[in-house]
Amino acid sequence: MSASVLVGYETRYGSTQEVAEAVAATLRECGLEVDIQSMRKVRTLAGYSAVVLGAPLYMFRWHKDARRFLSRHREALTQRPVAIFALGPVTTGDEKEWQDSREQLDKELAGFPWLTPVSLEIFGGKFDPAKLRFPYNLFTRQVPASDLRDWTAIRAWVSSLTAKLQPALPQ
Ligand SMILES: Cc1cc2nc3c(=O)[nH]c(=O)nc-3n(C[C@H](O)[C@H](O)[C@H](O)COP(=O)(O)O)c2cc1C
Repeated sequence: MSASVLVGYETRYGSTQEVAEAVAATLRECGLEVDIQSMRKVRTLAGYSAVVLGAPLYMFRWHKDARRFLSRHREALTQRPVAIFALGPVTTGDEKEWQDSREQLDKELAGFPWLTPVSLEIFGGKFDPAKLRFPYNLFTRQVPASDLRDWTAIRAWVSSLTAKLQPALPQ
């Protein structure tokens, strides 16, 4: 039997992949058939009735391969419900950072005016300066490590999604 929902993700340091895995697990708990795959590796959306896409923001931009995925699968994405999330804020108690991340994501998606996500969400990200590679390690050494991923909020978002994706799924 073909899977009904694709959870596609991109990541550099793994934190978005872990969120995507939690999204997929929660969708399965809700009784849906789910595949999870790096967006780069997805060849076709045939066989998927709905799509959830997640990728981090870096330097004000949504991950390059996520943007490429949107362009490459434009036609298929206009024919299915699409939900989108991005990881971004990494500073505790900085409300402005959340607004900035949301604006960055909105700006990125404005480049794809044909796309109308059924849901769009920003989640807190994970930041570990010790793991960063060149050149990012040069200017982030003084920033404290953090993990603002709120697993309860992530699961609640996914539960709210099922009603929006359900009409497209085979009964
Ligand atoms: C060098 C660097 C630049 C970043 N730039 C942004 C940004 O412009 N906007 C934002 O919201 N988050 C930004 N972040 C936070 C990341 O989105 C966050 O760390 C995320 O969890 C990384 O996901 P990954 O582990 O899947 O690669 C940045 C993080 C780093 C390390």
